[in-house]
Amino acid sequence: DKGGWESYMDKEIHEDPASVSDTLLGRYDDKGHLDLDEVHIDADVFRQIDKIIVVACGTASYAGLVAKYAIEHWVRIPVEVELAHEFRYRDPILTSRTLVVAISQSGETMDTLMALRHAREQGSRVLAICNTQGSTIPRESDAVLYTHAGPEVAVASTKAFLAQIVAAYLLGLYLAQVKGTMYRDEIHQTIDSLKAMPSKIQWVLDTQSEKVQETAARMIDARSFLFLGRHVGYPVAMEGALKLKEIAYTFTEGFAAGELKHGPIALVEPGEPVVVIVPSPRGRDVLHSKVISAIEEVKARGAFTIAVAEEGDEDAGRYADVVFRRPQCPTLMSPLVDVVPLQLFALDMAQLKGLDVDKPRNLAKSVTVE
Ligand code: M6R
Repeated sequence: DKGGWESYMDKEIHEDPASVSDTLLGRYDDKGHLDLDEVHIDADVFRQIDKIIVVACGTASYAGLVAKYAIEHWVRIPVEVELAHEFRYRDPILTSRTLVVAISQSGETMDTLMALRHAREQGSRVLAICNTQGSTIPRESDAVLYTHAGPEVAVASTKAFLAQIVAAYLLGLYLAQVKGTMYRDEIHQTIDSLKAMPSKIQWVLDTQSEKVQETAARMIDARSFLFLGRHVGYPVAMEGALKLKEIAYTFTEGFAAGELKHGPIALVEPGEPVVVIVPSPRGRDVLHSKVISAIEEVKARGAFTIAVAEEGDEDAGRYADVVFRRPQCPTLMSPLVDVVPLQLFALDMAQLKGLDVDKPRNLAKSVTVE
C-alpha cells in the first residue's frame, strides 16, 4: 500500500524521519544510558573487542562507512568497512576479539551471508544490523540489532540507510559506554543530538523538496554527474551517486573531494553537473574551506555546481549555482540530513524521465545469489 504516494520510493523517503526515531526508540533511558540487552552479547565480551569489520553491499556498505568515522572517534578502535564479496575471498585477519558487523536491509543478501559465515568459521563474533525480522542473516549471526525502518519495498534503499546509520551509532555508543572511552555526559549529549534529527530531516522534506525538483528539471538532459564529499560527506556522496545511477540510469561517480586533482577533475567540462556535500563551517573549519575550494576549482572549469550545505553557510551560497540546505547539526549527524535531498533528486530525475522508480531495470530488491 503506497498510502497515497505516487511510488513506494516517494513514500519511503517521507518515512526517513520515522525510520530514525523508531530505530532509537527504547534503546536508552532518560539519563542517556544505553540498553542493548536485546543483543545478548555479554558486556565483558564487548569490552574485549579490539577491531570491528563491517561487511555489507551497496547502500548498507555506505552506512557502514559513515559509522566508521563515528565509532573510531568514540571508541578508539579500528573499524574497517569491506564490501562483503571482497572480504570473503581475501583471507581477512580475524580473531576472537574482532567484531564483524553485517549490515543488511533484507537480511538475505548472499554475499553478506557468505562473509559472515566465513567470519564465524574463523572464530569471530558476528552482529547483524538488519531490517527484516527472522531473515537469514540475523538467524545465522551471534546477535542482532534490528533497524526499525519498517518494510522497504522500492528497490532503491532510502529510509533503511538512515536506520542503519542510527543502529551502527547506537552500537558505537554502547561500546564507548562499556569500554569507558566517552564520558556519560558526552554519550547523553550524542543521544540528544540523534533524537533531534527526525525534526531536522522533516525540515529538509518540508522546505527543500521544491528546490530539488526544480533543479532536477533543469538537469534532465545531463549525461553524467559527479558527487563529491569529505569525511562523512564522502560516503554520502557515493550514496547520492548510487541512487541516481540506479533509478535514473545516469552515469554517476561519487568520490572523495580530496581526490579531485588526482584524476577526476579531468572529467569536468563546461556544464558538467557536480554535487558537493559541504561540511559545517562551524568547528571543522579546515574541511569546510577545502570543500569550498573544490567547488571553486570545478566552477572555474565551467561545472554546474549543486551544494548541500548548512543553513547560513554563506560561502556555499556564494560559490555554488544551487544550494540545498540542511539545518545546523553536529558533523557526525549530518549524513542523516544530507542524504535526503539526494534521495529526492534521484526520485525526481527518474520520474521526470518517466521511469519506473520502484522497479528499476536489471535490479532486484535483494540479491540472493553470489
Ligand atoms: O538488503 P541489503 O541491505 O543487504 O542490500 C544491499 C544492497 O544490495 C542494496 O543496498 C542495494 O545497493 C540497493 N539497491 C541500493 O539502493
